[in-house]
Order: sequence, then C-alpha cells, then structure tokens
Amino acid sequence: MSTADPAQAVAAGGEPTEHPGSPPAAAVRMSGIVKRFPGVVANDGVDFAAALGEVHALLGENGAGKSTLSNILTGLYRPDEGRIELDGRAVHFDSPRDALAAGIGMVHQHFRLVPTFTVAENVALADPHGIGRRQVRHLRQELAAMGAHYGLAVDPDARVWQLSVGEQQRVELLKALHRGARVLILDEPTAVLTPQEADALFVTLRAMVAEGRTVVFISHKLHEVKAVSDRVTVLRHGRTVGTVDTASCTTTDLARLMVGRDVVFRRAERAHPVDPAAAPLMRVRGVSAVNHRGQPAVRQAGFELRPGEILGVAGVAGNGQRELAEAITGMRRPTAGSIEVGGSPVRLGSVRAAHAAGIAHVPEDRLHTGLAPSLSIASNVVLTAYRRPPASRGPFLDRGYIRRHATELMSRFDVRAPGPDTPVRLLSGGNVQKVLLGREFASDPKVLVAASPTRGLDVGAIETVRRLLVQAADEGRGVLLISEDLEEILALSDRVLVLYEGRIVGDVPAADATAERLGLLMGGGAVSRDVG
Ligand SMILES: Nc1ncnc2c1ncn2[C@@H]1O[C@H](COP(=O)(O)OP(=O)(O)OP(=O)(O)O)[C@@H](O)[C@H]1O
Ligand SMILES: [Mg+2]
Repeated sequence: MSTADPAQAVAAGGEPTEHPGSPPAAAVRMSGIVKRFPGVVANDGVDFAAALGEVHALLGENGAGKSTLSNILTGLYRPDEGRIELDGRAVHFDSPRDALAAGIGMVHQHFRLVPTFTVAENVALADPHGIGRRQVRHLRQELAAMGAHYGLAVDPDARVWQLSVGEQQRVELLKALHRGARVLILDEPTAVLTPQEADALFVTLRAMVAEGRTVVFISHKLHEVKAVSDRVTVLRHGRTVGTVDTASCTTTDLARLMVGRDVVFRRAERAHPVDPAAAPLMRVRGVSAVNHRGQPAVRQAGFELRPGEILGVAGVAGNGQRELAEAITGMRRPTAGSIEVGGSPVRLGSVRAAHAAGIAHVPEDRLHTGLAPSLSIASNVVLTAYRRPPASRGPFLDRGYIRRHATELMSRFDVRAPGPDTPVRLLSGGNVQKVLLGREFASDPKVLVAASPTRGLDVGAIETVRRLLVQAADEGRGVLLISEDLEEILALSDRVLVLYEGRIVGDVPAADATAERLGLLMGGGAVSRDVG
C-alpha cells in the first residue's frame, strides 16, 4: 500500500491492499463467512485473504470473531454461509482432518499433547499414516534436523511433562510441520511465552514463510503484530474492518482500527497518594515455597503492602512469581514464613482461610483455577459466595438474586455474552477474564492479588481492567500486581519488587522505576542497594 494512512485503506473497502507490482497469489481466501451461535453472530460476513509467504496477523477486540474464523478455516466449525478457497480452488472441510489433509494446521493455545509420551512419540501419534516403532528412530533424526532448520530445538526423547510451556509449543509446531502444513494458524501463541521465547518464535515464523508457507498470527499485542507480520486484517464485531500493510501502520493506528477510537495508555492518575506511615494491610515475612517439582521457587520473600498501594512484582517467568502468588492466596503451602492481613496472621495453605482474611485472587490460569468452565456466568460469579446471604437464604440459593447480581456485574464489567445463563466456556478469552475480575472485585477484598490480569485482553478491555485496579487502590485496598509485562507494571505500580531466582532483588519506588533499571534487575544483573 502506498498511502501512509491506514484509515484510507479501510475506507477503500475491505479488500486487501495492493502491493506494488502484482499482488501475491492468495493461499487462502475466505469470503462472506457467516457463523451464528445461539444469541450471537460470531462472524457476520467476514472476508479474509492470506498470501503465500506472508505472516498475516488477525487483530480484533475480545469477541470480535478471530477464534471462530480460525476454527472455520481448520474445519472445526462449519460456516453457515460463505466460501473458502485454497490456492484458488473452493474447498469444504467437514472436520479438522479434512483441513489437515489440505495442508492447514493449527497451534491451539491449549496444547494437545500426551504428557507421558516423548516428543517423538507425540509427533508419531499425530502422523496421518501412522508410524511404527522402527520408524520412530528415523523420525527422531528428522525432528532434530527440523529443529535446527526452524529454530525449534527440543530433545526428541524428552517426555512432554518435563518440557517448559515454550518447548511444548515447539512440539506443536514440529507436529504441524511434520504433517506438511502449508498454512499455519497460531491463536495467541505468545500469551504463554516469555518475551525471549516470543522473539525466538518470531524467528521460526519468518523461516517458515521464507519457504512459501502462510502463517496466520492472532495476537492482541500490537508491538508483536508490528514485529512479525507483513499484513494485518482487523475484525470488529464479527465483520472485516480492513486489511493493511503492517509497515504503513503504527501501533496507535492499529489500536484505533481495532476499537474504532483512540486508545492512550498513560500512567494512571491516582485519587490519593499512598500514606507511607499507614499501618500495612498485609505483611509477608520470610516466605519460602517450592514449585510443583519440589524445587525451591520462592526464597525468603518479605514485604509490606499499604492501603491504597499498587505493588508491582516484576520478573522473567519462572522466577517464582506464580509460586509467590499461590503462597499468598493459599493455593500453595509455604515451607517457611508468615503472612498477616490487618495485623492478624493468616492460616497458610488454605484458599478458604486466605479468602476469609480478605485476600482475593485473579489467577494466571483463569479457566482452570479461577472458574468452572461448564457452569453459567451466574453460577461462576457466586462460586465463592454461595454459602452466605445474599446469594442464599438458609439452605436455599436465591436464584433471582444470583441472576440479577450476574446481570449487573456483566454490565459493570462490560461482559459481552447473550446472558447470565451462558456457560463460561463459550465466552471469548477477554470476556472470561472480565467475569473473573467482576467476581473477585465483588467480594470486597482487602488485598487483591492479580496475576497477569490483562493477558489476552484487547486494548479496550485492558483500559477497563487497569481502571478497575486503580479504582480498587483508590478505595483503600492493596493491590499486588504480578506481571511479566513491564509496561503494565510501570503504568500502574506505586512501587515495584523484582523477583530473580525466587528472591526479591529489588524494591524500587515508581519514581525511580525505569524499564532499563527493572530489566537489569530482572536479569539478575544488579542487586538494588535498597535491599539488604
Ligand atoms: N461455541 C460457541 N458457542 C456459542 N458462542 C460462541 C462459541 N464460540 C464463540 N462464541 C461467541 O462468538 C463471539 C466471537 O467469539 P471468538 O471466540 O471468535 O472471539 P475472539 O475474537 O477470538 O475473542 P478473544 O480475543 O477474546 O479470544 C463471542 O461473542 C463468543 O462468546
Ligand atoms: Mg479468541
């Protein structure tokens, strides 16, 4: 596209913008795709075309219809209307198997691997022709070669349960490549990765498109879309807004295309400064904890959280953040230490005791630890409160109250779903998070432990969640914000702790917290003099 203004490209109609010279042959073209679910039109006439040899990003707010479109392309859903062409020929997929046979592969956000099998065995299992024991040896060599070629190094003999999340994703990519995928769809692949792993993934994706494959990349992170994609198609409310050349857009342009208005992230304004003389809301002393493999993960962590304070906890994934959050919220029993809220000791290792002490938790793994996916929104918002009034009267649940309460939370937190009876598993990722936040805020906590609270959310939803966190602090609550996203930590925190190998290696007031300083501490490069 020659024009620098993406808005013009959009005004010119939903067609892909033209490259100088002849446009590349479209490997995939989806036209007029309609997919209805009860109460929702998830795709409402979507046009999408991805060319050979490009990384094509799919961008849109939570619930815009991205996952639905990719599920149609991979044969998981059948569209109600519309047409799919592959290399110019119309195709119909009745199952993911059909799509795979045509060369369309998908890397889901939740991996589909057998944990007790080795990497090679998992790849063999996925082979459409089946692979015998003797051929596995050959496969191991092939995997090693593919790993070297695409930057997907992983030990073919390692068992999947031993692998990090980033390595498991590499196995999923190897599986797809081994099956001969020409078009690869990745739905929010970086949500589970560290920034370093994400960079490595981008190198792999570029290597794949350099060979003429097509990559469809779904992400909410605009700087990633800028870094890795050639073109971007934006969806809004189930419709195509337009397709633009990545190089012609800034991240601000992309944000505006996505939500239809300007989005600006500033340092949050606070109603009250934190009173350094106020008695701490929460005291954590000498807390140590082990990870799920029994290795030390948190070492002698101690800090105080004051009323109205947002305390950021920064660190590269795997440096003890998760275990620290779990220790504080009662999900993991510390091996040493104590925690007090409002001056009273909290019984450790009990979720119920932590909750009763006023500690609310927005966990990292929302669908598995935070919510019951098969239950309705209404049931989920009372999951932690159904035993007492007003959700129940005597032994009976007050269903009328529960529905009203859920409906109110849905409007306050902008949960987009047909109604309070919709099962949570049918919601888009961002809406799942809003349900969880709504429930935790409604419990009137003293301390809110929020782990990566905006991960997977679109820019509009991120604004909402950040505003809510600031509001919680302004109401005098303490917020412990655990995140790998430095920009988020810097935008919200009054003070920042840095975890490195399970130890607090920095305690930096907001005024001194810069990305450089925190980054250095996160890498173990320096120990702040603030910490003895
Ligand atoms: N199987 C389903 N049954 C009913 N409704 C569904 C189903 N799958 C998706 N939806 C609804 O369709 C709409 C589009 O959802 P989709 O998951 O495609 O959004 P998305 O763009 O991937 O969002 P996110 O960024 O939050 O992942 C949402 O309103 C969602 O609740
Ligand atoms: Mg999605």
